[in-house]
Amino acid sequence: MDPTATLSPVDDSSRHGPLDDLPTGFRWGVATSAYQIEGAVAEDGRTPSIWDTFCRVPGAVAGGDIGDAACDHYHRMPEDVALMRDLAVDTYRFSVAWPRVQPGGRGPANPAGLAFYDRLVDELLGNGIDPWVTLYHWDLPQELEDAGGWPVRETAYRFADYALLVFDRLSDRVRTWTTLNEPWCSAMLGYAYGAHAPGRRDFAASMHAVHHLLLAHGLATQRMRAAAPGPVDLGITLNMGTAEPATDSDLDAAAARRSDGLGTRLYLDPLRRGRYPADVLADLERRGIRLPVEPGDLEIISAPIDVLGVNYYMGHLFSGVDEDGRTVDAAGNPVVRAIPRGLPRTAMDWEIFPQGLTDLLTRVARDYPGVPMVVTESGAAFDDAPDATGYVADEDRTAYHAAHIAAVARACRDGADVRGYFAWSLLDNFEWAYGYDKRFGIVRVDYDTQVRTPKRSALWYRDTIRRLRG
Ligand code: FCB
Repeated sequence: MDPTATLSPVDDSSRHGPLDDLPTGFRWGVATSAYQIEGAVAEDGRTPSIWDTFCRVPGAVAGGDIGDAACDHYHRMPEDVALMRDLAVDTYRFSVAWPRVQPGGRGPANPAGLAFYDRLVDELLGNGIDPWVTLYHWDLPQELEDAGGWPVRETAYRFADYALLVFDRLSDRVRTWTTLNEPWCSAMLGYAYGAHAPGRRDFAASMHAVHHLLLAHGLATQRMRAAAPGPVDLGITLNMGTAEPATDSDLDAAAARRSDGLGTRLYLDPLRRGRYPADVLADLERRGIRLPVEPGDLEIISAPIDVLGVNYYMGHLFSGVDEDGRTVDAAGNPVVRAIPRGLPRTAMDWEIFPQGLTDLLTRVARDYPGVPMVVTESGAAFDDAPDATGYVADEDRTAYHAAHIAAVARACRDGADVRGYFAWSLLDNFEWAYGYDKRFGIVRVDYDTQVRTPKRSALWYRDTIRRLRG
């Protein structure tokens, strides 16, 4: 299907609520990340990241999938930028692969690696698209994991050095920089649950990783601020949901508090208030865990930011009681159990709960005021059924985005300062431990031919952007 063809505008606003409350200048974007789309993992000096290693662990990734080729974006970048232009987006959020720019995670920049992002930025600007850089979307150089990874303090300093290499090269043209994508996932999925690279299962190590990730963010933020050649917007992207008690029992209230503590406040409190939440520290202490905080760390972590990226996919109810009526688990820790609301689900089995995005944005605006937010990821995987031409009439994904954009508009009406919405994702891509099977793209990728075909959701997104921009 011709991506420039005009699809009759679908006015979903009547179903999902008015969009007039979105502020003028609202940014419309799409997001991706390096390992999920680039491929070319051994080209131009790139060395392995923890994901290259993890993908080769039998059973770690569905179908044994690996990112070696992914969407071949490294070679098809100009075509992908042209696609974004045709979809009328004004911002592209992408991540830089650390092992491409600084192989091995130490030492000087690799000119060939940096040159790719240099070309990407120029291509974007030449097409009227604003580049939004994420410095770390989970592809830690393997050598740094071998030296201890995020549970080790040294990794934070390595990150700040790497950040400066990229910043020095691109900050003359890139205004917006986010340090980390979703440190909760890096720490918890990577070091506590073993579901993501590097696949460790050590809760204490994951808590040390949290502190060093936040320290890395703060160090890089301070150094970029000091080195900025002009105005820049610096920030971080967190994944957050909503955590409400399933009933009004004290046990459920405690479960919701614990989930909110470890999922949201453990990050936002040090970033925005310069201290870790006392209840979370006390819970950790009961488990014999102390965060490795050194004098001065919290001042670094709470360095001023200009934008907070919010990634939202779901919100949960919580119970402090398991299916068998127990209130402590086998390890002796209080039960924190997510309870489904009984809503329709995506192919990830995630409940579709747009109101949670409104609730989250208004809550962050209330509890952590003073920084504008941008929804840096929102989207859904569904089991797409392409027609013979590769076109996917994805009503489900279209409705998902429509409902979540309307949810942002409601948050704005309620006073939250939200300045953009980025669809996850531009392309179907390597969905981490789920491999290529779960498709989040508004553009279909045929992995045999690498042909890109905008889905109905992409055309709807384009028409919605054009309509709202006037
Ligand atoms: C987020 C990640 C992104 C993608 C989506 C579905 O947690 O940042 O890379 O996997 O989930």
